[in-house]
Amino acid sequence: MRIDILTIFPSFLQPLQLSLMGRAAESGLVDVHVHDLRQWTHDRHRTVDDTPYGGGPGMVMGPEPWGEALDEIATMSGDRPHLVIPTPSGRSFAQPIARQFSTRPWLVFACGRYEGIDARVATYFANDPRWDGVGQWSIGDYVLAGGEVAAMAMIEAAVRLVPGVLGNAESFQDDSFADGPMSDLLEGPVFTKPVEWRGLSVPDVLLTGHHAHIRAWRLRQAQERTAENRPDLRPMPDLPEVN
Ligand code: ADE
Repeated sequence: MRIDILTIFPSFLQPLQLSLMGRAAESGLVDVHVHDLRQWTHDRHRTVDDTPYGGGPGMVMGPEPWGEALDEIATMSGDRPHLVIPTPSGRSFAQPIARQFSTRPWLVFACGRYEGIDARVATYFANDPRWDGVGQWSIGDYVLAGGEVAAMAMIEAAVRLVPGVLGNAESFQDDSFADGPMSDLLEGPVFTKPVEWRGLSVPDVLLTGHHAHIRAWRLRQAQERTAENRPDLRPMPDLPEVN
């Protein structure tokens, strides 16, 4: 899988060289390329933004450098890239989207700053046959200073699902939001050695070696945690309307 990231702060993406992402890159499972958007500016100040038409606060990133950069990036490999634009006004990114991303051969992330990127960029590349679609995604109901952190979150969520990236020991089968019998449930609490720590014990059932009991206990814990922390994941059935 190839991943390109276009940003005015390339060094923001350095954490992608560490840990799981770094190993995935080293082993050739992902091929990450970070580009400085200002490479595609032509003025002395390497300008990427301007005031918004119609007025209002802040600055908007102009379409020209994005257009030139994305035109050139699309020629850098044989596949058709899918464009991802992180934005708080996008659709909600969640595990099913991470799974879709993990099967794509080529993702390009356009990280905006300021008030965002001129809307014509998304429109243009959604209709450009060299590209395999455009998605605008939000990682949560809060506003970051730019798309870089959101891009890193989406990239890590997707790349850890690429076959071979996680070892067996760190498999994602039991994740919160994984498919399967525990889907729509948060993962319950986890414990390791020592059995006693500061007066707190590991729950007895986990020490029994009785797998059916452990499974049942974990399911109950997951249900309780989900009800407590995320009641929205398991909505109560609708009550009949009273007239
Ligand atoms: N850029 C700024 N805030 C964001 C968010 N919540 N999700 C995605 N991109 C963003």
